[in-house]
Amino acid sequence: MNVPNHVAIIMDGNGRWAEKRGLARSRGHLEGSKTLEKLAIHAMDMKVKVLSVYAFSTDNFKRSQEEVDYLMNLFIKMFQTKFDKINKRGIRVVISGRKRGLREDVVASINAIEEKTKENKEGILNICLNYGGQEEIIDGAIKLAKDIQNGLDITNFKREDFYHYMYHELPPIDLLIRTGGELRISNFMLYEMSYSEFYFTNTYFPDFDKSEFNKALFMFENRDRRFGGISDAKNN
Ligand code: FPP
Repeated sequence: MNVPNHVAIIMDGNGRWAEKRGLARSRGHLEGSKTLEKLAIHAMDMKVKVLSVYAFSTDNFKRSQEEVDYLMNLFIKMFQTKFDKINKRGIRVVISGRKRGLREDVVASINAIEEKTKENKEGILNICLNYGGQEEIIDGAIKLAKDIQNGLDITNFKREDFYHYMYHELPPIDLLIRTGGELRISNFMLYEMSYSEFYFTNTYFPDFDKSEFNKALFMFENRDRRFGGISDAKNN
């Protein structure tokens, strides 16, 4: 099976999942966090090496204070107590995004989970938190500018080299999944997504279980990825 090396998920539809059941939006986020825990392990079982997820965008701060607080407390709780299975499965957890602007206790829990799992080698779970794709490119460009000031020779600087300036040096995304029915990328991992295949589904994220994930893998297996060239079949 041709498995994508790096899968990214825009975990949308938590709120609508809850509203449809007459529950508070926060309940949707809680169910979404349980889905994520299971999916991360399943993805690695399917031989995916990196799973990136959009947990909180720089723009999500526009939501009500109550919802923002709920999500921040949920991240802390998950990182402190609920990620044991992920750690035991040998998955390294990294967080992408701007730490400035986040509460101190959130930053502390991010540092703790990254430290706790840093030697894990079975795969990477990249959680994008206070994250924006344009912001990641800007922050990377600023780091590169500093290196240039310090004498870096950029005569032969290639697009592959810029990955070094991203929050974590992760490989390009092969497959992007968006749940919840919207057809947009919402400022998510723009640099890494250049040649990604897209899979959109109406399923709300809390319902996006292993079999839904496998459907996306199956679709990926049947896509003809040409990276700007022509397909092998036509080449022959
Ligand atoms: C988008 O759905 C979802 C979010 C903004 C939050 C996603 C967070 C989780 C799934 C929890 C993850 C937990 C950890 C530990 C990383 P929405 O609220 O915009 O849904 P809607 O479009 O139906 O309103």
